[in-house]
Parts: sequence; structure tokens; C-alpha cells
Amino acid sequence: MSDQKQSPVEVLKLESNYLRGNIAEELAADTDCFTHDTIQILKHYGTYQQDDRDARAAKRADGQSGKVYIMMVRSKIPGGKLTSRQLLAQLDLADELGNSTLRITSRQGLQLHGVLKANLQATIRRINEIQLSTLGACGDVNRNVMCCPGPYVGSIYQETQALADRLAAHLAPRTPAHHEIWLSDPDSGEKTLVGGSDPEEVEPIYGRVYMPRKFKIGIGFPFDNCIDIYTHDLGFMAVVRDGRIVGYNVLVGGGMGTTPSAAKTFPALAQRMAFVTPDRAVDVATAVVKVQRDFGNREDRKIARLKYLVHRWGLEQFKAKVEEYFGSPLADPEPEDVTAFNDHIGWDEQGDGKWFYGLHVENGRIKDDETTQLKTAIREICTRFEPGIRLTAHAALLFTGIDPGDRGEIEAILRRHGVKLSEEISTVRRWSMACVALPTCGLALAESERVLPDLIDQLEVELAKLGLENEPFTVRMTGCPNGCARPYNADIGLVGKTRGKYTVFVGGRLLGTRLNFIYRDLVPLEEVVPTLVPLLTYFRQDRTPGETFGDFCARKGLDDLTAWAETNAHS
Ligand code: HEM
Ligand code: SF4
Repeated sequence: MSDQKQSPVEVLKLESNYLRGNIAEELAADTDCFTHDTIQILKHYGTYQQDDRDARAAKRADGQSGKVYIMMVRSKIPGGKLTSRQLLAQLDLADELGNSTLRITSRQGLQLHGVLKANLQATIRRINEIQLSTLGACGDVNRNVMCCPGPYVGSIYQETQALADRLAAHLAPRTPAHHEIWLSDPDSGEKTLVGGSDPEEVEPIYGRVYMPRKFKIGIGFPFDNCIDIYTHDLGFMAVVRDGRIVGYNVLVGGGMGTTPSAAKTFPALAQRMAFVTPDRAVDVATAVVKVQRDFGNREDRKIARLKYLVHRWGLEQFKAKVEEYFGSPLADPEPEDVTAFNDHIGWDEQGDGKWFYGLHVENGRIKDDETTQLKTAIREICTRFEPGIRLTAHAALLFTGIDPGDRGEIEAILRRHGVKLSEEISTVRRWSMACVALPTCGLALAESERVLPDLIDQLEVELAKLGLENEPFTVRMTGCPNGCARPYNADIGLVGKTRGKYTVFVGGRLLGTRLNFIYRDLVPLEEVVPTLVPLLTYFRQDRTPGETFGDFCARKGLDDLTAWAETNAHS
């Protein structure tokens, strides 16, 4: 590919001198925001510049113009594994330097919102001081590595966590700019100059221009696909025989984001490519990363993810290239595939006499409000019992290593603070998830996190009327087609298309192994539940024994569902 064809972000990365750009200068400047070019480089340090869109609208209503700039700061936490002390420190940061809420993300990370530019360096430095990192949480590099957070004692769970840690360390950017910009004493003037150095030495895996686009890795089990392995660029599915991981099925080319106006874009599930033994998993990951680094599209960011390369080449050619980089042929995948999904909610035994508690956190938002002091309750539990913490891919939080005798008191703390116990949450709410969207996400076209709770209230009523209240299915909502809450493989996906209107998808499944399809487009928010009710009614009436809602919709197909809904609309 010739240089002049590269997308503008490629040029910025190339000229940034290993992710320096003008960050240090702009950090030091007395301004409330960064420039457009610097924002692109900043993402690699886990931070997005945003503006409070409610505040923007309020200003406009007051006859003023301009924006209220804020930064989102995301920590990368392999397998969502952290300590109580680290979680408490993130809550302190949210209170002192953020908007007093902390968000558990749908990829086992944590996000602070509302950080002012003037506090950005202190925020990132403090995150590093507690042994967490924001480096590579966003940007064109390998993002957070996900793995099943089940804290079961038994080598297979510890082994997948160890692989997640190894992959995360191996694929982390190495640029000294990270230390220089964020971790050095701002007054010491310390500078490391690497301009012109050999890319092989500075960034042995990424080189000067890093990846063409974000890259996501997830490690799952066939019997527990809680990390949604098929949505990842690269998935490792543990093949467990006689209680031992004998290797991994390697899946490539999953990804959710799409631009509806660009026909060349699409959501894709990963494809099963190969089988590797555990000792070669990191080498295969490196080979896949390097193939995407060298052949992924760098001219058009819309089609730069690995899924487009796999689509362009076909799986066979892609595999051949990976084998070339890997240095030997790769075996075909083993037959094991996803059979179940465990969201790890509620009490469960770990296998060492201790328990863990999976706490449902609605849309991952840890906050206090008039009725529910969730943040305070979590603080009290972390301070008094110091449990281990795990974050799940459904944005829930696990307290681990709990003595059986402390279970009652933990529940009592939650109750005292008005927090519903996980067992009291309806099935539909438990399996629902929304992306952040308004007011912070600059890409949001419609509301998501702020409206899903009410929508679930309505659905609960309708499901109860239909006697379907115990039926597990996923409802995932996003404020734009980028798909951050993984809506395209959910039983029901609601994707913001324009202000107040959504595309309604049906026919995915809880197991995450099938994409859904568009049932209706541009449905106003208040019409979403009324649009779904006929389908749920049809489902109750015509389902085969044990059939799930997503399977039912996929079996019937769009024409049949539409015909039935129209015929029965007013009956
Ligand atoms: C072109 C595609 C995408 C773009 C430009 C994009 C951009 C963003 C932005 C700006 C945010 C910050 C929102 C905020 O906190 O205010 C965000 C959040 C997030 N995105 Fe994406 N995103 C894309 C696709 C995806 C996909 C496909 C996934 C996962 C399957 C994903 C996972 C996340 C996660 C985990 C968060 C954190 C908040 C949450 O849990 O919802 N993103 N994304
Ligand atoms: S799906 Fe769209 S609106 Fe939601 S967080 Fe992602 S980019 Fe923002």
C-alpha cells in the first residue's frame, strides 16, 4: 500500500514517535481540551475526549455556545481480576476526580467518566500506582484480554486466567512514551528520546504504526461462554478433557461494529480456524496479530478490523498466512463448541470451602442515588471483608473468597443500602445490558443506559402477563450501531439509529453463536415493547419444547414473524 493512501489516523500514528505526538505539550497547556490529532493518539492510553452533551444542550438553551469537555478513562484489567484495594482506589478516583460514578464495562474493564483535562495525568498516574493500567485500553492495539471470571478453584480456571495475563503482557505496547508522559514526575523534566530508533527494539510486535484498528482477544470454555467468544477478533476456546486443558480451538474474525450506511461493513461472528496446544497459544496469537498488522486495511478505518481481512481472503488463505508467520502448520479445530453460558450471578461455592457472590450491577454503573446506595455498599463490603473482585462480561461484579459465615452479613449490607440482591432481579433484567451512550459518548445517536431500565420495567410487566417471566434471553441496547454492548448476537438487540428511534433485531441467542436479524427499523422508544409483545405472544403459543426466544425467531424468520404480527396486531 502506498503512503499517500493511508488513512489520516495512520499518518498521525506514524508521525507520533511511538505515541507521543503533542500529548505532553498539550497536557501542560492551560486549555480545557486537546486538539483533534492529539485525541487520536491519546486513545492508546485508555482515554477518550468527550463532552457532556446534556451540558452542551443546556448551554445552547441559554444562548451560549461551546462544550463542557470531559475525559473518559478506561482501565485494562485482564480477566476482570482485581483486589478490593484496587476497586476502592478506583471509587476514590471517581469521587475525587470523576463524576462520582464508576462503570464496569462489558469487556471486564472499569471506566471513569467526567475527568477534567487538568486532572488527567494525575488520574492515570494514580491508576498505575495501584498496579492497574490504562495503556492499550483503547486505541489501535490489543485491548483488554477477557477470560471467564469464575473463581473456581481448579487448574483450568487458573490456567485461562494465566493465559489472559500472559497475552496481555506480551501484547502490551512497550513505548517508553507511556512512562514519560504519564508516570514521570511532571516537575523533573525527565525525557526519554527514542525518535528514529529501530521499531524492532521499541515495539517488537507493533512497529511504528501499531495495528490498523482495535484488536480484541477472549478466552472461553465450551461449557461457559460468558465472555462471548464469537464476538472477538481472536478467541481461544479451551478444550478440556479429563479435567485438563489439552489445548485451545482458535477462532478468528469476530467483531460487532458496523456503519449501516456503508454496505461494506457488517457485524461478524468469529470462525473456527485451528487447534493449538497451550504452550503455543501465545505464539499463535502473535502470528495472528502480525498478519493483521501487515495485511489489515490501513486506508479505510471502516473496514480495518480483522474480520474484513478474514472475509476478503477467506479462512483458508488467512490460515495459510498465519501458519507462515507461526512457522508450522496448524491442526484443524477440535469438535468442542459452545454449549452453555453462566453469568456467575448469586452465591456459588469456589471449591475451597469459600464462596463467591455475583452481584448484578444494572448496566455496570456503580453509583449512589436516592433509593440505592450501591457504591457505599460496595465500599463497605470491600473495606470490611477485603474479598477478591472479578468483573464479568455482563458488567456484574463478583466478591470472591468469602467465608461461609460472612454470607449473611454481606447480604445485610446490600439490603441496608437498598441494593436488590441478585436473586431478586428479574430474569430479563439480569440478562440485559446497555452501552453508555448519552450524555458522555460522542458517537451516541440515541439514549441507551439511561432508558433501558424503564424499558425493562415495561418488559417485566408484559412477560409476567404472558407467563414468560422465567424465560432467559438477552436484551442488549446500544446508542449507535458501533455495538459496544454486543447487540448483534443477542436474542433481542436494540440499536439507536437516530434520536429516540431504534433498529429492533431478533433471532440471536444467549449462547452468542448466532447473529440476529433486523425485525423493524426506526422504532420509537415507546413503541419498542409494543413491537416485541406480539413476537413474545407468538413464541409462547408456537414454541417447540425447550426452544428459546432467539431460536424461535430464527426458525420462523422475518417474513413469518411479520405476517403473524400483522395478522394478530389488533386481535
Ligand atoms: C467502531 C466501533 C466502536 C467505536 C468507535 C466505539 C467507541 C466507544 C466509545 C467512544 C466509548 C465510550 C463511551 C463512554 O463511556 O462514554 C465506548 C465504550 C465501550 N465500548 Fe466501544 N466502540 C466501538 C465498538 C465496540 C464494540 C464492538 C465493543 C465490544 C463488543 C465495544 C466495547 C466497548 C466497551 C466495553 C465500552 C465501555 C463501556 C460499556 O461497557 O459500554 N466497543 N466505545
Ligand atoms: S455503542 Fe455507540 S453510543 Fe454506545 S458507547 Fe459505543 S459508540 Fe457510544
